Amino acid sequence: METRKVRGTHDIYGDDIYNFNKIKNIVLNNASLSSFKELQTPIFEYSNLFSKPLGEHSDVVLKEMYTFKDKNDDYLTLRPEYTTPMIRAAITNNLLNTLPLKVFGIGPMFRRERPQKGRYRQFNQINFEIFGTNDYLADIELILIAYDILTALLPNIDIELNINSLGTKENLKEYKNELSKYFENKKIELSEESRDKIFSNPLRILDSKDDIDINISKQAPIINDFINKESRDQYDLIKKTLKTLKINFKENPTLVRGLDYYCNTVFEFKTKSLGSQDTLLGGGRYDGLIGLLGGPDIPGIGWAAGIERISMLMKESIKTKTDVHLAIFDSKFKNHLIKVTKYLRENQISYYWNYKYNFKKSLTKANLEDAKYVIIIGEDEFSNDSYTLKKLDDGQQFEIKINDIKKFIKKK
Ligand code: HAM
Repeated sequence: METRKVRGTHDIYGDDIYNFNKIKNIVLNNASLSSFKELQTPIFEYSNLFSKPLGEHSDVVLKEMYTFKDKNDDYLTLRPEYTTPMIRAAITNNLLNTLPLKVFGIGPMFRRERPQKGRYRQFNQINFEIFGTNDYLADIELILIAYDILTALLPNIDIELNINSLGTKENLKEYKNELSKYFENKKIELSEESRDKIFSNPLRILDSKDDIDINISKQAPIINDFINKESRDQYDLIKKTLKTLKINFKENPTLVRGLDYYCNTVFEFKTKSLGSQDTLLGGGRYDGLIGLLGGPDIPGIGWAAGIERISMLMKESIKTKTDVHLAIFDSKFKNHLIKVTKYLRENQISYYWNYKYNFKKSLTKANLEDAKYVIIIGEDEFSNDSYTLKKLDDGQQFEIKINDIKKFIKKK
């Protein structure tokens, strides 16, 4: 029997679960505040949903997809990201009849990357998308939502918003050609991994972690010199609006993102507190993608954030205490115990008991630390038809009837 966990996966419990739930609550709040509707998609899709849109030469498609052949010979892939499944779902379910469509989702993604701090093979993403508008205020609204979620969850962490514009698909094509020419001339100095990408995916060389590659990239042509007037004007408006809203940002001309579908605005929220996996959230425009997937030719924009990376930076969570710990002297009071339990359930009072019918054993230290009150169920209580309620913070004790428990606890 195999009891190891699969490499790159992790179990979520303890503080992480508190953090995960807090993240989910803040996301749900922000989504409802801005009228984004939740859209959940299956964990797996037909493989060809991903290969072309994400880029046949992208790392995700080349090396990281969990793909398997189904019994009827279909190739299926565990979703490595949420944008393409969301578009697929919007098309399949005719959700694009009324535009713009604003959707969000939270759930697990799968990429067979080399595991390290902040990088898993199964990880959870928050995802926000807007389909069907070119308005630069959609870019701004999405950045605002991202900013609000991250600052609510990580009030004391330095987070830097990086932005860039990749221009249109045509601008990007021209830029890639120039980049390939530039890197071809530096071929001998480049790392082996980057050398392989000179023609297939020169943009990826720009975010190589190799020191020599980084130096060579500093002199490389920059995308901003290739973008057309319309894209530049759009980019200028976005920068101006961010300044008006007092959202600090850094223009980062080498920010190109790892997936092929992007054009025009791209952005990332980064932090120095995480080590090499320093991106908490990333996204951008993907005009043309919805059409490529068989939908109408409408623009789109969105972002995704890694829940594990956010959780790692959250301060130790404040646990909510259980209201009542039940302590029972003897198994002959079992009927009483269950009567009290039913009362507590009906009155939304949280409780705990450990199935030990012995006063000492039923009061373990660890559980008491997690509770606000103890209700003692023993001979005296039984004969008086009342219960002893002990307040754990100051040790005060009270004799009360079952039907007064709620009133008492709420008052205190
Ligand atoms: P991405 O940059 O590939 O973009 O991923 C977004 C975020 O997911 C990253 O910034 C990171 O926080 C988290 N993440 C990615 N890979 C891992 C991993 N292996 N382990 C832990 N966390 C990870 C996308 O996925 C795009 N679909 C975002 C998007 C939405 N663009 C437009 N709409």
